[in-house]
Amino acid sequence: MKSPLALIVDDEPDIRELLEITLQRMDIQSLSAENIENAKTLLHAHAFDLCLTDMRLPDGDGLELVKHIQERHAPLPVAVITAHGNMDTAVRALKNGAFDFISKPVDLPALRKLVSTALKVGLSPPAERRTRHELLGESAVMRSIRSKIAKVARSQAPVYISGESGSGKELVARLIHKQSPRNGKPFVAINCGAIPQELMESEFFGHKKGSFTGAVADKTGLFQAAEGGTLLLDEVADLPAPLQVKLLRAIQEKKIRPVGEQREVAVDVRLLSATHRDLGKMVQDGAFRQDLYYRINVIELSVPPLRDRSSDIPQLARHMTALLAEANGMPVPELSASAMTALMRYDFPGNVRELENILERALALYEGDRIEETDLNLPGSDAAITAVPEFDPAELTLENFLEKVEKRAISEALEKSRWNKTAAAKRLGMSFRSLRYRLKKLGLDDASPTGTRRARGYSSNLCNACGAKTSNKTKQSHYRIAATPGEAAYAACSRQHRSIAPVKPDTCPGS
Ligand SMILES: Nc1ncnc2c1ncn2[C@@H]1O[C@H](COP(=O)(O)OP(=O)(O)OP(=O)(O)O)[C@@H](O)[C@H]1O
Ligand SMILES: [Mg+2]
Repeated sequence: MKSPLALIVDDEPDIRELLEITLQRMDIQSLSAENIENAKTLLHAHAFDLCLTDMRLPDGDGLELVKHIQERHAPLPVAVITAHGNMDTAVRALKNGAFDFISKPVDLPALRKLVSTALKVGLSPPAERRTRHELLGESAVMRSIRSKIAKVARSQAPVYISGESGSGKELVARLIHKQSPRNGKPFVAINCGAIPQELMESEFFGHKKGSFTGAVADKTGLFQAAEGGTLLLDEVADLPAPLQVKLLRAIQEKKIRPVGEQREVAVDVRLLSATHRDLGKMVQDGAFRQDLYYRINVIELSVPPLRDRSSDIPQLARHMTALLAEANGMPVPELSASAMTALMRYDFPGNVRELENILERALALYEGDRIEETDLNLPGSDAAITAVPEFDPAELTLENFLEKVEKRAISEALEKSRWNKTAAAKRLGMSFRSLRYRLKKLGLDDASPTGTRRARGYSSNLCNACGAKTSNKTKQSHYRIAATPGEAAYAACSRQHRSIAPVKPDTCPGS
């Protein structure tokens, strides 16, 4: 196989030589230029696989070369060499399309890693088509997000993913990693809001045995766990101030210092961050460091709320219904036209995650072979109570019909009051005693997310993290959660909910 060809642009002969030798040892051929003009001539004449350029050149700014390459020679990966500590220049270069940066004095192991990643970038084909199956939606904005993902995946620049809760930020982050040359290495997501403040530094950077009470062994931090891969700082707005300073340093130096350790350790991670909060506003209010914001927000990718792309709803709804039904071993039902219209009109404050939850609930409650609008139980519509199904004497007796309506109204009230019977009774305008009597009469006396869904072999719990209903795909996982009565049972949830509320042992069909 032909060895790759690199272009080195630097006015200092010593640095050019150092870079040439390093690349040669990696079996990479190189040509060198001492200024922008010569570099442009070489670019015109040869097909390079990589370009390394200094930022301060005799006839101009390295940034000019970065822009020139973007315009004329894309997708050639170009990395910039910056003066030590000059992060502003690095950020400007990344914003203009540089693939990565390295600061002087050049650390050779770091340079080798950068070069190998850059060469992998050149090899990976555009991936928009692959992403289409995972990040659904044919609206113009979703198409543009998919092509942006394919583009930023080729760079090492920090990406800041903004968007409302449940809009798909983590999914976007995972796809950036998956399409990047770091694909074979770990993707690590840290929820900055979920780690107790006193453990944060050690979770991020690791610690040395004996560095504090309880540090009984050396521990590797999440930065090192993500070595060679991608680190997502989820809910980055929740980072406490002392950690913000340390993170800034880690980004700037590409090095971390484990707690209790004297020396710093070089780390090679691609940083992504996400939050549903307005970080720009937090910076203005002094609640988040401006310099850190500037560094993590080199490229911004904003995921729009679902209500602003309602044309995506039918595809998402069908896809999710099929996935949920298959996962629960049920036949895949259709969504009626009126159900689809209702979904498209609904404003989804909880975005795609809420759509998932609504469909999950509908799957548990629908009867017949289609999901109707009333099965969706869309909040605010009160459809389940107001839209009384038509009475057909050929099908049911009046008594059975009324029982069905009553059951539906009671289930709806219980759902809305999160299975709190006192609150549900109030909502229904009846006394607690009366509700208890009716629950017994209607066979709903075990009314809990588990009890009402038992009929379909489908169980559900409230997720502590987001308050949404979460289904356990198998009875086994239900038993596992139910096995720890009385205390908060934390279990990894299949829907990426972080924790699941404990199930009372007496409501568990298995106990
Ligand atoms: N365009 C999409 N296509 C398919 N599934 C999607 C899409 N957007 C989001 N999802 C799904 O919706 C759920 C929520 O997405 P995700 O966890 O990425 O949201 P988030 O923005 O990170 O939410 P939060 O702010 O609450 O952390 C996930 O199950 C995800 O797979
Ligand atoms: Mg998230």
